[in-house]
Amino acid sequence: MYKYVINGGRKLEGEVSISGAKNAAVAIVAATILCDEACVLENVPDISDTAICAKILREMGATINYTNKNTMLVDTRNIKSPKVPPELARTMRASSYFLGTLLGRFREAFVPMPGGCDLGDRPIDQHIKAFNCLGAHHEIINGIVHVKADDLIGNQIFFDINTVGGTINAIFAAVKAKGLTIIENAAKEPHIVDLANFLNTMGADIRGAGTDVIKVRGVNFLKGVTYGIIPDQIEAGTYMVAAAATKGNVLIKNVIPKHLESITVNLRKMGVKVQEFDDSVRVSVDGPLMRTNIKTLPHPGFPTDMQPQFSALLTIADGTSIVTDNIFDNRFRYAGELRKMGADITVKDKVAIIQGVEGLKGAPVRATDLRAGAALVIAGLCAEGRTEIDDIYHIERGYECIDEKLAALGADIKRVYFQPKNAMAASS
Ligand code: EPZ
Repeated sequence: MYKYVINGGRKLEGEVSISGAKNAAVAIVAATILCDEACVLENVPDISDTAICAKILREMGATINYTNKNTMLVDTRNIKSPKVPPELARTMRASSYFLGTLLGRFREAFVPMPGGCDLGDRPIDQHIKAFNCLGAHHEIINGIVHVKADDLIGNQIFFDINTVGGTINAIFAAVKAKGLTIIENAAKEPHIVDLANFLNTMGADIRGAGTDVIKVRGVNFLKGVTYGIIPDQIEAGTYMVAAAATKGNVLIKNVIPKHLESITVNLRKMGVKVQEFDDSVRVSVDGPLMRTNIKTLPHPGFPTDMQPQFSALLTIADGTSIVTDNIFDNRFRYAGELRKMGADITVKDKVAIIQGVEGLKGAPVRATDLRAGAALVIAGLCAEGRTEIDDIYHIERGYECIDEKLAALGADIKRVYFQPKNAMAASS
């Protein structure tokens, strides 16, 4: 087992380069199931979620070779069965994308109910609604979702709520369906646009990605391509917040500033200086951090995936801040861990009230999910003394080499091996 050990209080200074977007990569790797030839994917983040996607494809019969840690050659032509190996698939939310891609290719799919971060109830009713609209039937037996269609016929899909995964799965099922599908109330996240660009490069006919109406005209053949994944706006935002929390001065490279707009606006409201360049932003602080209120919304609103990191920053801002998460029911599980470090944060339902304190104190804490873990790293970086973070596997699902990148910015952070207590008891 590994943990992060951080000795806080050091300013982050220097340059950091952002990796490919996790939430684009997991969708694009799954999308190769729809491709009729081999593909080369570049700028794939070296994180456990993409590694699990690749492992699932390999176990299903695909050929996957890495020409370097961020470039993957994927050939899925040898996949013959629409059944996903359940053990691996249960560990992440993105496994739901195998429903749409296998249904799109085989007109059938068997995929376990998806796992992923525990953020409250995370149903897939809207995904199923999209499949039903195109002519598929479904049943759930022993936790395995089985979808099947005699054929997939283009239709209108109206989502009752804004869903990233539902929008992506609707595109997957429609891209090789017969005729025109119109997806309304579609999610508009940058990774949906990236996925549509990837599929269109292969020969798909998808228009309107990034707006709330996406039109997909079915095609029969998708050719192999080489495609580079967009930079991860949440990883970039995490380093922006870390630079602000340590009152440092960091140039964050390989970003698309437009994707960071809501993060930049809110950092500026807190008195943080953010300079935007073509493919980088510089974050620095030369005054007090001021309180602000945050409300998460679907893109282009403030991203829920940045809510924990901002809450960590607000614990040391002057004044009282209110953070509301309108997307997930239970995305404040990290609050108790921050309280161990001296934060004054109280949570009721989807709202956190944060009273800024002079400073945080290092403590042993535990990552409860991916972005909660990132919040604890940020808290450890700006806290006085030593912080140990357990269960860092959550963090490494979505952040490539976060310890190395932070150490290169001057942080005192180490990834340390330790024998779990129960294992020690068993071995003694
Ligand atoms: C994606 O999850 C991301 N995961 C999440 O990122 C992100 O927080 C979320 O989108 C919102 O931006 C991946 O892309 C792998 P949703 P997803 O469907 O698709 C409800 C991270 O930290 N809902 O947009 O699961 C749902 O419960 C992760 O990188 C239904 O009710 O999110 C939630 O309350 C965490 N029925 C809301 O909609 C459905 O059928 C938004 O969920 C689908 C969703």
